[in-house]
Amino acid sequence: MENKKDVLILGIESSCDETAASVVKNGREILSDVIASQADFHEQYGGVVPELASRMHVDAIYPCIESALKEANVTLDDIDAVAVTYGPGLVGALLVGLSAAKGLCAATGKPLVGVNHLHGHICANYLCFPELEPEFLCLCVSGGNTQIVKVNSYTELEILGKTRDDAAGEAIDKIARVIGLGYPGGPKMDKAGQGGDVNAYEFAVNHMKDTLDFSFSGIKTNALNIINQSKQKGEEINVSDFAASYQKHIAKILCDHTVKASEATGIKKICLAGGVSANSFLRKAFDEASLKHDLKLYYPKLRLCTDNAAMIASAGYFEYINGRRDDLALNATPSLKLGR
Ligand code: KG4
Repeated sequence: MENKKDVLILGIESSCDETAASVVKNGREILSDVIASQADFHEQYGGVVPELASRMHVDAIYPCIESALKEANVTLDDIDAVAVTYGPGLVGALLVGLSAAKGLCAATGKPLVGVNHLHGHICANYLCFPELEPEFLCLCVSGGNTQIVKVNSYTELEILGKTRDDAAGEAIDKIARVIGLGYPGGPKMDKAGQGGDVNAYEFAVNHMKDTLDFSFSGIKTNALNIINQSKQKGEEINVSDFAASYQKHIAKILCDHTVKASEATGIKKICLAGGVSANSFLRKAFDEASLKHDLKLYYPKLRLCTDNAAMIASAGYFEYINGRRDDLALNATPSLKLGR
């Protein structure tokens, strides 16, 4: 039996290849966290096949929601609002979660709260650190996005820097595939680089000096050139050394720009968010920077770094208490932007 003043949010996530549902209390406490991952299925194709992802979401969505309610030991009656990711993501995939959420709201009269997936990633930190409050900076690094966000309040987000081309995650995933590590590239690249020599391969420096924006397409091309030149010489690259050097280079760019943002704003509280924040090279770079620049770091638990619905329920809670309500015309927005 929940306290009457508690706010329970059912979160639903289906933006890419994870179908997920979760019940979260007061934006901070996870009562259930159910994830049906399709990663093993898409591995055979070397990446997510959008149409197949949508179909698999259709099969998984209601069982996930039922399990989330059951695990939390609540019924739909106990839920205050349904929060759902409506972007960014794959349109067909997003539509499945969104349609399920709208269906539940239409049937029960519960409020619908649309959530930006990236806001969800940031909120994963509230689930892990009960004492964490805005304002802070968040480096948000997921598969398709790389942004430095100034979190002014629970719902007011300001973009200080973003990638002008590829996301860091994309740059890692693509090169992982080229060096034969397969999909999903990020975790495999991380593993392959363990014990590798981080100075074995040199990459061109990042030229984005007078901005907090990022660019990763150049370093990706640089990596492809190194691989191709080795092939032409009939030499094999050392996968472990290459993975270590490449990730160290990307981690340094991400970390340097975040430190620059910290210096520019005077904010020393730094959170990481998104799938790539699980990366051990990135965490090491931040650990070192925190000592040098006296930063207070927050890393979400690994399970909450990648896609899940608990983070959506948490973001939904903060939006809900801030007054956000969406009507049933809410549509999937594949390129939804974060903040201002
Ligand atoms: O946040 P996420 O689960 O999905 C999006 O919202 O995009 O992020 C997925 C990304 C993929 O690019 C995946 O390869 C990457 O996170 N990733 C990692 C690691 N674990 C997941 N990248 C580097 N190192 C990891 N350990």
